[in-house]
Amino acid sequence: RASSGGRLDLELAAAVATVAVGGRQVRVLGFEGGMPGPTLRVRPGDRISLRYRNDLGAATNLHTHGLEVSPEGNSDNVFVMIPAGGTFDYAYELGPDHPPGVFWYHPHHHGTTAEQLFAGLYGAIVVEDAEPIPVARERVLVIADIAFDANGDVAAASRPERMLGREGDLVLVNGLLLPTMVAAPGERERWRIVNACTSRYLRLRLDGQRMRLLGIDAGRYDEPREVDEIVLLPGNRADVLVDATAGEAVLQTLPFDRGRMGAMGAPRSATTGADLARFVVRGDAAASAAPPPAASAPRDRRDLRDEEVTGRRTLTLAMGGMGGGMGQGMAFTIDGRTFAEGRTDLEPSAGAIEEWTIENTSTMDHPFHLHVWPMQLVEVDGAPVSGVDRRDVVPVPAGGRVVVRIAFEGITGRTVYHCHILDHEDLGMMGAIRVA
Ligand code: C2O
Ligand code: CU
Ligand code: CU
Repeated sequence: RASSGGRLDLELAAAVATVAVGGRQVRVLGFEGGMPGPTLRVRPGDRISLRYRNDLGAATNLHTHGLEVSPEGNSDNVFVMIPAGGTFDYAYELGPDHPPGVFWYHPHHHGTTAEQLFAGLYGAIVVEDAEPIPVARERVLVIADIAFDANGDVAAASRPERMLGREGDLVLVNGLLLPTMVAAPGERERWRIVNACTSRYLRLRLDGQRMRLLGIDAGRYDEPREVDEIVLLPGNRADVLVDATAGEAVLQTLPFDRGRMGAMGAPRSATTGADLARFVVRGDAAASAAPPPAASAPRDRRDLRDEEVTGRRTLTLAMGGMGGGMGQGMAFTIDGRTFAEGRTDLEPSAGAIEEWTIENTSTMDHPFHLHVWPMQLVEVDGAPVSGVDRRDVVPVPAGGRVVVRIAFEGITGRTVYHCHILDHEDLGMMGAIRVA
């Protein structure tokens, strides 16, 4: 669905859907009858009017992850609750300077976010570049894991699985098990990859092909970076140029160690990877080599490390103690508290440039996400970050810390920050922030 004349008007119905996964008929939750939902394509300055229809039989809502739009009213407001059978009219206004890139949408109803996303409710949003990068083709790859029970329903997560962060044994690309993508030698493609997994970190490889990373999330590096591997935390996106070389390659995710939890051990992805898609490059070489990519947008050259900080904070992510997450034992906390909808935890002033040190005292990694205002990585576990690296989900390694800088400019309002292992968020690892 693409905008025209500065507007995108659409309906988005969420309901149980029957789809085929790996040749098997299964029941998922889908948008517009499918999984993932439709890709929305818009431009800076556009207005999106979206009528949401909730046929899930349970309360839900919609979040436009990474979009820099108002978190209030009927815009990207995670405090909205759409009851079963209800509709809600969302309206989003993108500013004329909204960064281009790939974003995504998913439910954000506290307590059932993980369950609803894991069951199939997710889709991509592309904000187009003012000057498109010339490529032979563009692919949007939305990667999400899922698991089914013997009846073909989405598997429920046990309490230990929720505490580790649920993972599925099937890792799908655009809802498909191991799809095949075809290109001709010498073609340049642009891949926009979304990690829509509920908890799984992706460690992507495409051996035998050349990958250059333009940036993560809405950030864009000064120069594309040659990479062998791309690590995407849950919620992260990668904007990648692939120069196709004759042969057959496989897009894989490798095992990633995101920590462990006492007697429960480690998540499945600590030792298990998956083949995600085949990339078959054959036929006649493309007539001419593609031109080099356009330079980054000027906005991305801004480096908050050169600017004066108006406030500093330390946030502490922790697991342990009792009394959290609906009274079911171990608490997942930020600064010693679980989420309370009526409480505002942080109140930076509009225009502030803050430096946050986010510490993790637990034995698992937590991908930290802040809505609306992107974070520039300064330091991860004491190691300074090179270049300008702006993201909306940053790694906070087990027993470690990350330092970020944030400009609270342009948009005001109240929203949330949380662990993007969405089971942890549902168990309370979330806080509310108001910028006024
Ligand atoms: Cu992708 Cu608050 O979420
Ligand atoms: Cu978000
Ligand atoms: Cu977490």
